[in-house]
Amino acid sequence: MIYLDNSATTKVFPEALESFTAVATNYFGNPSSLHELGMQAERLLIQAREQIARLLHVKATEIIFTSGGTESNNMAIKGIAWQHRHRGRHIITTSIEHPSVAEACKQLEQLGFEVTYLPVDERGIVSVEDVEKAIREDTILVSIMHVNNEIGSIQPIEQIGATLKKYPKIFFHVDHVQGVTKVPLDFKKANIDLCTMSAHKFHGLKGAGILYVREGVKLSPLLAGGAQEMQLRSGTENVAGIVAMAKALRLAFEKYEKARQELNEMKRLLIAELSKIEGIQVNTPVDHSAPHIVNFSINGLKSEVFVHELEKQQIYVSTTSACSSRKKAPSKTLLAMGADQKRAESSIRISLSYENHRGQLSLIIEAIKHALKKLQEVAREM
Ligand SMILES: Cc1ncc(COP(=O)(O)O)c(C=O)c1O
Repeated sequence: MIYLDNSATTKVFPEALESFTAVATNYFGNPSSLHELGMQAERLLIQAREQIARLLHVKATEIIFTSGGTESNNMAIKGIAWQHRHRGRHIITTSIEHPSVAEACKQLEQLGFEVTYLPVDERGIVSVEDVEKAIREDTILVSIMHVNNEIGSIQPIEQIGATLKKYPKIFFHVDHVQGVTKVPLDFKKANIDLCTMSAHKFHGLKGAGILYVREGVKLSPLLAGGAQEMQLRSGTENVAGIVAMAKALRLAFEKYEKARQELNEMKRLLIAELSKIEGIQVNTPVDHSAPHIVNFSINGLKSEVFVHELEKQQIYVSTTSACSSRKKAPSKTLLAMGADQKRAESSIRISLSYENHRGQLSLIIEAIKHALKKLQEVAREM
């Protein structure tokens, strides 16, 4: 079996799972409880927050635990919008964001906010100049993803952050779900105010996430309740999932640091080999893209059928992104890059983990050629 759908989710590190089980079994208290069991859970929570803060080079008080990327994105965008609505109602984002950003913006539009969706170039990259040109007197938030989840393009976050320094009243949110541990990002240097991460994308468990909120940034909480997480995210904390996430983040930083060169090399070779196959168009740019994502289109053929053909050979990939892959809609990212409908409807995403290596390359390419041949035969018969 070769699992190549790591942007959808990753296999949990055994060490993270061990931490989860140990905490869930032995330290099951509610961290808000006054007794010793509660205190033990609270100490674990404090430790996890400190560990994560150290790994991200930020302060522990700037780390808010959430249930994952979707919640962190909603919290950042709606939280800033609601808190600062009297100052302005304009938000800038891109046309290639994950639905948890795009749909949150759409909901805000229904409440009277205005959203500018910036275009991207043919590589799937937004221009820093366009960001600056879109800024208005009433702009309160710029929300731009670091690594695109469909094609892997890397956005110029540091340059955008440098530009936004001139506009201190505008908050800068970055969806770092696909980037964290894979593509380095210095939150301080990039002038980031809010940053989203999700445990299950870096070999932690589903149900835990992070929102970095820079000290001094004020946002309205989405959930009303017991005022946990610096009054920003009510609800009893998922202590076991959070401790496992801290462990996973440390291990993922180590493993991806070591694997980065190999993955980059593998990505380049995959792109080179795929480009040689008739009927395939590669969508991921070789440069300015993350080491772990390669997207290509099988022009005119059905991508869902292709996924199942590859599955028969025990190779697991995605059509566009996992959350939209059941909807059979054309890829929004590819359309924004200027691809035609056919190309946008037939995209396949390979996403690697630190466990993949060049030794698997010929097997993957042969399997792709085989699946493509089968689909082409079926298409000819129809
Ligand atoms: C770029 C990006 N943002 C946000 C999310 C949502 O994260 P979660 O699955 O933790 O809600 C994903 C998940 O696919 C993603 O790829």
